[in-house]
Amino acid sequence: MSLKTTKINTEDKNKFYKLLAQQAEGLLSVENNLIANAANLSSLLYHSLDQVNWVGFYLLNNDELVLGPFQGHVACTRIPIGQGVCGAAFSQNTILRVADVSAFKGHITCDSASASEIVIPLTINNHLVGVLDIDSPNLNRFDPEDQQGLQAIADIFCQSVATS
Ligand code: SME
Repeated sequence: MSLKTTKINTEDKNKFYKLLAQQAEGLLSVENNLIANAANLSSLLYHSLDQVNWVGFYLLNNDELVLGPFQGHVACTRIPIGQGVCGAAFSQNTILRVADVSAFKGHITCDSASASEIVIPLTINNHLVGVLDIDSPNLNRFDPEDQQGLQAIADIFCQSVATS
C-alpha cells in the first residue's frame, strides 16, 4: 500500500472536500490508534488545505486541553477549558469559526501569523475528547462549506478510533 496521498487539484470546494474525505477514510480506516491517526490527519490536512499555517489536536487530559499531534510551528502546550478559541469550542461543544482572531476575546496567540481559525470538538464513543484546531494566516479563511467539509473529516477521524 502506498501511503502517499496526491495533492487534490480542483477549484470546486465541494468536490475538494469529497476527495479529501476519501483520502482521510483511506488513510485512517487501516489504523485505530488515536495518536497515530491524529498525526496522519494533521499532516494530510496541513498539506492539502490552502492558506493554513497550523493544523493540530488538543486533547483532554486531567481537566485541561493538552497539545497533541500537529503540523506547523511550535504551540502552547496547555489550554484551560473555556479559554481561548479551543477551550471555548470544547466547553460549548460547538464548532467555532473565527474570521478575525484579534477580535475574539481571550484568543490565545501561539503563532503570530494566525489571522483566522476554526476549531472542531471531537466526540469519540460519546465522550468529548478534544478539538481539532486549524489556523490560517488569512482573515476569514473558513466559510460554511469549509466547516461542513472539515466536520465530515473530523467525523471520519472519530469513527476510525472509536471502539465498536
Ligand atoms: N489560538 C488557539 C490556541 C492554539 S493555537 O492556535 C495553535 C486558541 O485561542 O485556543
